[in-house]
Amino acid sequence: MATVTFDRATRRFSDDGPPAVDALDLEIADGEFMVLVGPSGCGKSTSLRMVAGLEPVQSGAIRIDGRDVGGMAPKARDVAMVFQNYALYPNMTVAGNMGFALRNAGVGKADTDARVEQVARMLELENLLDRKPAKLSGGQRQRVAMGRAIVRRPKVFCMDEPLSNLDAKLRVNTRAQIATLQKDLGVTTLYVTHDQVEAMTMGHRVAVLRDGVLQQVDGPREIYTRPANVFVAGFMGSPQMCLVDAAVTDATARIGEAVIDVPRSVGPTVTIGFRPESWVVGTAGTPGSLRARVELVEELGSEQFVYCAADLDLRGGRVVVRADHRVRYAVGDEVGLTPIADELYWFDGVTGIRLDV
Ligand SMILES: Nc1ncnc2c1ncn2[C@@H]1O[C@H](COP(=O)(O)OP(=O)(O)OP(=O)(O)O)[C@@H](O)[C@H]1O
Ligand SMILES: [Mg+2]
Repeated sequence: MATVTFDRATRRFSDDGPPAVDALDLEIADGEFMVLVGPSGCGKSTSLRMVAGLEPVQSGAIRIDGRDVGGMAPKARDVAMVFQNYALYPNMTVAGNMGFALRNAGVGKADTDARVEQVARMLELENLLDRKPAKLSGGQRQRVAMGRAIVRRPKVFCMDEPLSNLDAKLRVNTRAQIATLQKDLGVTTLYVTHDQVEAMTMGHRVAVLRDGVLQQVDGPREIYTRPANVFVAGFMGSPQMCLVDAAVTDATARIGEAVIDVPRSVGPTVTIGFRPESWVVGTAGTPGSLRARVELVEELGSEQFVYCAADLDLRGGRVVVRADHRVRYAVGDEVGLTPIADELYWFDGVTGIRLDV
């Protein structure tokens, strides 16, 4: 059990470019499940690898249980890493793979076997211990990789996109399994993903990175309902929040035909964020509604997302609306979209920082 502290931890790969991880400040509590999320190249893996000792920290520090691990070899840190490409040893059985690190560390055979068996039960691998990896399914292999890390009883788990090789359904199951397992084991965990659904569902807290810079760290619900800025707001949530730049005149903002009261004086430009669930879909021409044309309907059974085109200063993409699944929409339909006023997000048009209104 351990705390992990990033203290202005920085890693650059070249002298002239920006750092891959830039003065990262992050405190992970004992037993906490912390998810690092962000787009490709934002520095997630590098952050994790610094904890494991696979990347140097060039300035600042990383501390495990308060102790600076800068000069410490990876082996001495007691951190178990699960990679996306968790190469198992093909010639070893499941039991052999799981026990490998223990035997290497000089743990006796009887102890190793006992620990492997215990973890195998936990992961429902006990009937597969004699099999070779080639004869396992993707999900089973993934569990062996997890098991290999768990048997070590490390202070810290570092998991780098461990689910990305699994198919969608298996991902959902395994996602829940890992979260439960982490809770039972109580091992401090850093979990990297670029999948915002994984981030929202698995973590106690979520740290959102962009270009090596921490944007926000908070509980999943807070990240969704109180995003620090336009970037976090746009990244977290699926389908993505629709962001519209608007000019403010006389305390109102015009979004196409829709006129929206601006809650307080926010400066001449503002970015307004609309979640898919924060529109009411009505007929075109409804007073105060935005006229839009249906371009795509995504049927999900219990709900549907209707993608619309509208004459707006939209930051990429389309207006996405979650609509009642009982109503049918067809491509080309004209609709009137009325925003739900108290569910909108307001951002400073220049800095992108969310405004508390
Ligand atoms: N060994 C390396 N040499 C040079 N640059 C690197 C190296 N490893 C990573 N980088 C750069 O550092 C930045 C952060 O990379 P990192 O692998 O941490 O991103 P990531 O968030 O894990 O992305 P992904 O989701 O694609 O895995 C990127 O711009 C990447 O190109
Ligand atoms: Mg990565």
